[in-house]
Amino acid sequence: MTSMLDINGKTVAVKAAPETPLLWVLRDELGLTGTKFGCGMAQCGACTVHVNGDPVRACVTPIAALSGAKIATIESLGGAHPLQQAWVKHDVPQCGYCQSGQIMSAAALLAQTKAPSDEDIDNAMSGNICRCGTYQRIRAAIKDAAGLTAATAVAAPAAQGPGKSVAANDIDDDIAAASGSTSRGVGQ
Ligand code: FES
Ligand code: FES
Repeated sequence: MTSMLDINGKTVAVKAAPETPLLWVLRDELGLTGTKFGCGMAQCGACTVHVNGDPVRACVTPIAALSGAKIATIESLGGAHPLQQAWVKHDVPQCGYCQSGQIMSAAALLAQTKAPSDEDIDNAMSGNICRCGTYQRIRAAIKDAAGLTAATAVAAPAAQGPGKSVAANDIDDDIAAASGSTSRGVGQ
């Protein structure tokens, strides 16, 4: 069966079964490998794309749910998006694996909130996990891209567990608390 999807402004025909998660179609059928597989369970945010402008976990979103929807992946940002420039300026990535999902969540935030507060950023980004603990640089880059003062850009991580920031520990706690509960796929 062929499904028609609107991806990055183009209508494409895909052969995958309707129940196939979008992430597999993007990476394996269409070669759009900027979107990453992390957990496969809507728990890490590595696979975040936009569906009609909202951040959505592609690993749990079947293509059957996307008929008529406008899908955008990290490739749609083109490499020179203000967030991508800010990411480079603030040297955000460490291993880099989570970062396309981080940027897509941030892009959805800035599209809806031009001058986000720290609370807005925390709320928008709380579902995107970074095992390298780049959260402070992510926040600084988002503020910079929004034209706000990136005062937290050079703040040193607080002393705590090896390799983890406060935010990382908080998010780990959130995952544990949310385990088995909400998913952020379309319609959920
Ligand atoms: S791969 Fe982790 S949320 Fe989709
Ligand atoms: S940069 Fe390594 S997981 Fe985020």
